Amino acid sequence: MGVFFTLQPIEPTDSPGEKMGTNGSKAYLKWIEKYKGEIKTKDRLLSSINKISGLLNRPIQWEKILQQLVKEMKRVFDLQRVVIFLINKKENTLEVKYVVGFSPAEVARAFKYPLDMNRHQCRETLVAKTGRMIYIRNAHRSSIITEFDFKMDRIWNRTSSISMPIKIKGEIVGVLQGDSTTKELVFSREDIKMFSSFASHASIIIENARLHEKAQKKIEQLMFLHSVTEKTSSTLNLVKLVDIITASVYKISQGRCCALLLMDRDKRYLRVASWKGEDWQESASIRVRVGENISGWVAEKGVPLLINDVTQEPRYSIVHPNVASMLSVPLICENNVLGVISLTSDKKAAFSLDDLELLMTLAGHAAALINNVRLYDQMKEERNVVSDILESSPNGIVVVDQSKKITSFNRRAEDILQIKRKNAVGKKFADIFNGEILDIFNHIVENQEVLDNVEMSFSRKDGEVVQLGINSSLLKNRNRETIGTIVSIQDLTEFKRTEDLIRRMDKLSSLGHLSAGLAHEIRNPLASINFNVQLIEKKLENDPNASAIVEDIFEGIDRIKVLVKRVLDFTKTGTPSFSLGDIHETISNALALITPQIREKNIEVKKDFSTHIGPFVFDPHQMQQVFVNLLLNAAEATPEGGTIEIRSEKEKSRNGGSDTYVISVIDNGQGISQENIPKIFDPFFTTKPDGTGLGLSIVHKIIEQHDATIDIKSREDKGSSFILRFSAKRALNRHATI
Ligand SMILES: Nc1ncnc2c1ncn2[C@@H]1O[C@H](COP(=O)(O)OP(=O)(O)OP(=O)(O)O)[C@@H](O)[C@H]1O
Ligand SMILES: [Mg+2]
Repeated sequence: MGVFFTLQPIEPTDSPGEKMGTNGSKAYLKWIEKYKGEIKTKDRLLSSINKISGLLNRPIQWEKILQQLVKEMKRVFDLQRVVIFLINKKENTLEVKYVVGFSPAEVARAFKYPLDMNRHQCRETLVAKTGRMIYIRNAHRSSIITEFDFKMDRIWNRTSSISMPIKIKGEIVGVLQGDSTTKELVFSREDIKMFSSFASHASIIIENARLHEKAQKKIEQLMFLHSVTEKTSSTLNLVKLVDIITASVYKISQGRCCALLLMDRDKRYLRVASWKGEDWQESASIRVRVGENISGWVAEKGVPLLINDVTQEPRYSIVHPNVASMLSVPLICENNVLGVISLTSDKKAAFSLDDLELLMTLAGHAAALINNVRLYDQMKEERNVVSDILESSPNGIVVVDQSKKITSFNRRAEDILQIKRKNAVGKKFADIFNGEILDIFNHIVENQEVLDNVEMSFSRKDGEVVQLGINSSLLKNRNRETIGTIVSIQDLTEFKRTEDLIRRMDKLSSLGHLSAGLAHEIRNPLASINFNVQLIEKKLENDPNASAIVEDIFEGIDRIKVLVKRVLDFTKTGTPSFSLGDIHETISNALALITPQIREKNIEVKKDFSTHIGPFVFDPHQMQQVFVNLLLNAAEATPEGGTIEIRSEKEKSRNGGSDTYVISVIDNGQGISQENIPKIFDPFFTTKPDGTGLGLSIVHKIIEQHDATIDIKSREDKGSSFILRFSAKRALNRHATI
């Protein structure tokens, strides 16, 4: 007879006290016997549980513990077989997990055929569905045996069985079943209670195992994420980064292939950026339109997709014949889909929800990294553009921060200021500048002022004074806060020089026009004044007061004479008459003419002539005038015992143009003040009491007519250099025409 009942809390066994009466001692003995038996069973149970509990403290081996549990049950209840079924919710089946007492063939059969909870009407599925235990003492006489039970009993050769639900927090998760082949199982209430306690023990172990598995998985995920982070954190290269991500995903996935696709800038296509595994080999170069196919759909919607069977999936279009299932997750950062990670497998339902969860976590992480690298690349690109613009700027650009530190110094700034970038960047500008430029820098940073074309002169370390035009603007950050000042420096020296030259030539030409006639007009009356004064001088010979006055008149006349002569010299410097000559000889002739002045002041003259300068074409007479003027000025500026150096050298052209003959007249005299330098070529500008201020005007005119240039370098109290430059090519061309 089969018993089918719900497991009820088992009441305490009958108390012996109630039964004590006349035949109390007999009953008592009987009770003792029964109680002894119960104690024995309880003892066995306790020892089994103890044994199993001992295992629980060891490093977790859930499988072994459950295996041990079923073994113990077989022993304690003297069963033929014990089996634990677990419910597979996805498939809605009851699957055999742990068995004992099965022959190898039976084990294989048990594992191969799970029970279908919908289809198979049997005691196991009934227990799994209802949560009630079923005890069948004798299958042949049981009324609840179904056809399927009957079939199964025959296959398994079962006489009786007990099937107990395994519940975790009230939820049925499986079935614990024991059976017997030959004999009937005689289970007392106590035995059933004990069996049930094994079932709850099993449920605890199963729950623990599941929790442990979950925790283990979480730990593995964290370890995995950590290892990916570690591998990717040092790379700022997108290609390397996506390769690391793909390789990592591939390693942990069960998939045959893993591909990382990145979205194009215009967000119309996805392209395979990295792949691992066979399937994508041919398609590494393909692009997927956003919205199409699985990856395209995931990219468009921004949600993951898990496909157990691609043949049932309308969105899937065959790319690879081997693909049976697929998992695809979007790479999202700041609400932007950057791409997709897709896994494929040749097995159906190869990916679980756990895989999806892990991949989503990883994708979030990967997207942030990809985004960072992209931003970094973009920033680098922008930076390169900015630095290219900076470097190619014709203006010197110096950027200073609010703490007056130089943060950027371009190549042109190096050129103009003659300060190396490495000596400027990172320094406070007070460390490298002084004087006017420092005042200007301080002013603009302190007052956050924008300068518009402020002109100033700057003395470079090499002694040259350059004219600078300074503009400034404020450097702001994203929040429009000022974080520094951009100073743009223009070298105006050349411009100023040209401006001076034009001004000078203007003056010279008006002087030329006027002076020729004027000089003649002065000369004739001056001659008669001179004659008449001589007469007066004779007449007043005996008047001592008059002689001093006459002397003065003569002196004035002489000065006018010299001036007239110089003006005429200047106006006479008409078109040069060119011939081939030796410039060194001309210089020596000029030097000979001023020997008295040189001797008088005991000046040492050094000649340093280059043998590379051979004869070239110039007007020897005019050039002699040039050197006489320059040497006289030098001698006049030089103190007693000073030095004058005359140097000639040939400057090789750097760019295939003409070579240059450079001739310099250098003195160590009083020098010229910065203020006077622009004026010295002006006609009549002189700082000498009896100078006419025409010497350099004449020099300038002649140099002009020779298509040559003249430069001055001078520092007060240190000396001056006048540098003449002749183009060798022009001189040679001129030779061809004379
Ligand atoms: N080598 C020099 N050292 C210092 N100052 C110079 C030198 N050469 C020219 N100068 C300055 O330039 C001014 C103009 O020179 P420039 O030769 O034109 O006229 P000057 O020498 O004064 O008069 P002049 O040449 O008619 O005797 C000079 O007065 C002097 O101040
Ligand atoms: Mg002079």
